[in-house]
Amino acid sequence: MSLEATSDLWWKNAVIYCVDTASYLDTNGDGVGDLDGLTQRIDYLAGLGITCLWLMPIFPSPERDYGYDVADYYGVADKYGTLGDLVELVRTARERGIRVIADLVINHTSIDHPWFQMARSGHPIFRDFYVWADRKPPNAAEGVIFPGKQESIWSYDRAARAWYMHRFYPHQPDLNINNPLVRNEIHKVIGFWLEVGLSGFRIDAVPFLIEQVDPDNPATADPHDYLRDIADFAHRRRGDVMLLAEANEPIGKIEKFFGEHGDEMHMLFSFITNQAMYLAFVRGDATPLADALRSLPPIPPESQWANFVKNHDEQSLDKLSDAEREEVFAAFAPKKGMRLFERGIRRRFPTMVDGDRRRMELAYSLAFSLPGTPVLFYGEEIGLGDNLAMADREAVRLPMQWADQPGAGFTTADARNLPRKLLRDGPFGYRQLNVEEQRHDPGSFLNWMERAIRTRKEWPELGWGEWRVLGTRNPAVLAHLATWDGGRVLAVHNFADVASRLSVRLPDDANGGRWRPIFGPGDGDAPTIEGDRLSGELPPYSYRWYGRRDRV
Ligand code: GLC
Ligand code: CA
Repeated sequence: MSLEATSDLWWKNAVIYCVDTASYLDTNGDGVGDLDGLTQRIDYLAGLGITCLWLMPIFPSPERDYGYDVADYYGVADKYGTLGDLVELVRTARERGIRVIADLVINHTSIDHPWFQMARSGHPIFRDFYVWADRKPPNAAEGVIFPGKQESIWSYDRAARAWYMHRFYPHQPDLNINNPLVRNEIHKVIGFWLEVGLSGFRIDAVPFLIEQVDPDNPATADPHDYLRDIADFAHRRRGDVMLLAEANEPIGKIEKFFGEHGDEMHMLFSFITNQAMYLAFVRGDATPLADALRSLPPIPPESQWANFVKNHDEQSLDKLSDAEREEVFAAFAPKKGMRLFERGIRRRFPTMVDGDRRRMELAYSLAFSLPGTPVLFYGEEIGLGDNLAMADREAVRLPMQWADQPGAGFTTADARNLPRKLLRDGPFGYRQLNVEEQRHDPGSFLNWMERAIRTRKEWPELGWGEWRVLGTRNPAVLAHLATWDGGRVLAVHNFADVASRLSVRLPDDANGGRWRPIFGPGDGDAPTIEGDRLSGELPPYSYRWYGRRDRV
């Protein structure tokens, strides 16, 4: 493989940016961000180095789960604009080298969806679009996704005089994907959005999509067949399509979603490394992350992990033991109101570390260098905080902070009436923390992020390479090496709040040649490579990347 190949499997070296349209930029003064606003910010995103924009749901929806409750798969909610505005966005983005993907929420619909309305009234065809039972299934209270807010995964519907299954909220009935008619409809939805110009999808709740829950009608086929089917179909319609799945599953299960031959999902979020990283952060010890990385199964060549620091949901810690989770809670979410669903944190990362710039750089340096492709959540590039005054997961979906002016440069509407509240005061408020300020400051986080992204893109070894974790003789320091096509990148990260000595022996195939430092904060003397050894001292929370290429 060579450099040319990197544009083929484009997701292996992409920089993905997840955006909540409602919170980005409001161009018509109604207080809600819109598609026009996103189009206006495409140059900003291109300048930052983003190559793929992921739109959170923009479909017509009663918004009882922030749009993850779709009432119409073929439209755009009025408040965001029109389908025409979306096409303009996609076209403008493409012109700047940015692909657009969107959430595909097909595990369930909203109860408002006409399919469900017809199903509950006993329609002979639509009834079977959902999963029904005559009696309440015995384990109805098990496996709720929103503990504390959701009591059961089965609810009784009076109109239907039957129980329907919903893995998420009662207003999100699960589609019956065993029904070929449902599969056809989902194909049509996928085909439609590819025709509109999308490059792929972030597929919501994939393990639940294929779980077999119909108590009266257990399926015999391998549920993964359905994912192969979706991938086949999407490929027939668009060769360079990318499917990124949300599958928060443990090792042993998660890799199945890539498919044995890479014929299912192209990308999977690495919840495993993400959660281990949080434990490593609070302990000042790289070991949990090193162990998690070593435990990752090999993946097919077309496949890729998606790495992130924080996403649009609660920071889930469900993969940690109870004691480990408590450790992370104590450090990063000391107050009850900062926690959610008994397993997660409803804050953004910068507030968890009190805006400590060193720790923010450490986290994002990892997101950009760990094996995989980085995914950012809007605002992370400026260290956007959160608004705990907002309910649930809305706390992290606050308006983007563009400038120190009323409305934060996000809107001209009266700030008192906004659906998503602005954060005005304090170190994370828009008066102090905004894009405009950071543009003017060469040392700002925004400018750091831009350099990080540039470096990451210039070193595709990180996304493509074979990689391994190396010993450092210091548990506080993680070292990993990526090797690809005659190029190598070595990265070291110090998790401790004190300076840490390290000594890394480079594997035989990686020593010699001319290594050069390619990225780091410049906060003191860097460890140096001599012969087959990298040694020296990393300042507290510091990191360095080194690169070497045989070719010019
Ligand atoms: C996924 C989404 C989450 C949503 C849920 C139900 O977990 O990330 O935001 O609430 O699915 O669609
Ligand atoms: Ca608007």
